Amino acid sequence: MIKSEVKTDFPILKRMVNGEPMVYLDNAATSQKPQSVIDKLTDYYVSTNANVHRGVSTISVQATDEYEAARSATASFINAPSSRNIVFTRSTTESLNWIASGYADNVIQPGDEIVITVAEHHSNIVPWQQVAKRHHATLKYVTLAANGQIDMADAKQKITDRTKIVSINQVSNVMGAINPVTQISEIAHQHGAVMVVDAAQSAPHIPIDVQAIDADFLAFSGHKMLGPTGIGVLYGKAERLAEMQPVQFGGEMIDMVTQQTATFQPAPLKFEAGTPNIAGAIGLHAAIDYLNQIGMAEIHRHDQELTKRCIDKMKQIPGIIIYGDDDPVNHNGVVTFNVAGIHPHDVATGLDMEGIEVRAGHHCAQPLMNYIGVESTVRVSFYFYNSNADVDRFIKALETVKEFFANEFDEAEPTI
Ligand SMILES: Cc1ncc(COP(=O)(O)O)c(C=O)c1O
Repeated sequence: MIKSEVKTDFPILKRMVNGEPMVYLDNAATSQKPQSVIDKLTDYYVSTNANVHRGVSTISVQATDEYEAARSATASFINAPSSRNIVFTRSTTESLNWIASGYADNVIQPGDEIVITVAEHHSNIVPWQQVAKRHHATLKYVTLAANGQIDMADAKQKITDRTKIVSINQVSNVMGAINPVTQISEIAHQHGAVMVVDAAQSAPHIPIDVQAIDADFLAFSGHKMLGPTGIGVLYGKAERLAEMQPVQFGGEMIDMVTQQTATFQPAPLKFEAGTPNIAGAIGLHAAIDYLNQIGMAEIHRHDQELTKRCIDKMKQIPGIIIYGDDDPVNHNGVVTFNVAGIHPHDVATGLDMEGIEVRAGHHCAQPLMNYIGVESTVRVSFYFYNSNADVDRFIKALETVKEFFANEFDEAEPTI
């Protein structure tokens, strides 16, 4: 059971917005940071700031130890076999781009196929479009079942012996459904394809075991799971990282350089050219410690409880269209909806006037918007520091917004 006092660990959650205590419900975009992560970043700059992997000075060794401890903690967090499976990047976007240009560019041949789903974030679509374009390959899209999850019958049809890469989100940033990535990974491997998992929305919310999934690659961002911005993770199986080429070149990643040639370090260092985001990695470590203290299974349970409360109450309000299943079980902390007759941006602006912070737009998922037949939606997304009271404030504000626009509409109606 997550105690409501957990909120006090997050200084920003005390702030006001438009004269109201803020309720932050845009966690799928980015999470807030606990004091322990903020303190760790300050502490690093106050006491240990030095470059890593370079010096023999005391603080350089300390900084390197802390940076490498962050790698080990990240490996344990997703049950990776070794810290050598963990490459630090800038974000999920960067991790996916590196897989596309460092790995896929070397294996994709004309006529090959890459399989994704209609529910991917643009950062798991556009890099694959580029690979397909460069190599005259085909990008295929798996459709969704009524519950918002991947349609497994369609996945089985689309993944064939021509498929070289399957890249799929574990949790959709719009639908919230948890996809059966372990089953999809098995199908991909039966056809000799490589399985890439976009874990941007799952790593912050559910326990992840890369070995159980048998993922070849998996990507996520620190900022969505209490960590700082600018730090991301690329997990790869040892053999995949050995096959993958560095995307950036320079200091740190080399073994030996002559005037005309260079040899590289083994993974993960061969991918981390230049001075890495040392503070970001150390901040991510503090974030992982915090999450582990609460427990990922408990976080998942809490997210589900809030989502159920939210959907049950939303269903009582006429004119609310919830996308995906109306069973809360298939919305892991994410509810995407529209209010009939009100533009999503107006809904979000109205909620903001009441201190409720949500997201409206296409959520970087235009193919999905097209698939569900809308241009944009409103999205509320919960995290473990949200409470039942936050859900109730949101519902009350939603009713107020609806009422406001209904009155506006009445007043605007011509009186003949
Ligand atoms: C499912 C999914 N994939 C990828 C991303 C990209 O993450 P980032 O912007 O941190 O690179 C996001 C961000 O919202 C996401 O939700």
